[in-house]
Amino acid sequence: MNELSHLKGKTVLVTGASGFIGSHLVDSLLSLNCVIHCLVRESSDLRWLPSPKIHLHFIDLAQPDFKVPGLEAINYVFHCAGLTKAKSRKEYFDINSRVCSTLYEQCLTYKDSIKGIVHLSSLAAAGPSEDGNQIDETTPLNPITFYGKSKKSGEEIALKYSVSLPIKVIRPPVVYGPREEIFMPFLN
Ligand SMILES: NC(=O)c1ccc[n+]([C@@H]2O[C@H](COP(=O)([O-])OP(=O)(O)OC[C@H]3O[C@@H](n4cnc5c(N)ncnc54)[C@H](OP(=O)(O)O)[C@@H]3O)[C@@H](O)[C@H]2O)c1
Repeated sequence: MNELSHLKGKTVLVTGASGFIGSHLVDSLLSLNCVIHCLVRESSDLRWLPSPKIHLHFIDLAQPDFKVPGLEAINYVFHCAGLTKAKSRKEYFDINSRVCSTLYEQCLTYKDSIKGIVHLSSLAAAGPSEDGNQIDETTPLNPITFYGKSKKSGEEIALKYSVSLPIKVIRPPVVYGPREEIFMPFLN
């Protein structure tokens, strides 16, 4: 049994499904026969989402009043959409922070049928260790980049909603691999 096996056959929403992490997650969910709803936008590269079993919903999360369709049927949400590169602090905060409030506020209406929400934060939200000692989830957050600060803000929103919603926040370190275009080119 792997960690995802309890998702077998469940109805799942993946934001950022066209991205590196989201598209690999969708592959795993397909192998578990999940009903998969993906939030993508018109400009998204859909090459990793070719399966007819995937339901695509075209929504630009930069629109402040976006509405997620079909939330009433969703059992699990994976919030993978995010900006890892942006031109301004505002762009980072719009997507990595504000979107979280809009999404989780809509989830509240269906809190009885949503069994789990995974919020992708980042180690950048924690920032570097101030004294060189190991940090953990109890260490006060000390992000130093706009990206990290926006991910910290998104985490704080997730934690606020976790009082009413079954949200788990995870903070991956650098993730790289096939389909990823920042680190992999250096390794090839
Ligand atoms: N990769 C890492 O090393 C790493 C480490 C720690 C945490 N994370 C977090 O993991 C999540 C996914 O990262 P990733 O590496 O998979 O990044 P990615 O490949 O750049 O994917 C980001 C996803 O977010 C979507 N997105 C961005 N802006 C959007 C908008 N306005 N409307 C709709 N969708 C939008 C993108 O859609 P388009 O395809 O349309 O651009 C894409 O699907 C992010 O939250 C990131 O902060 C990543």
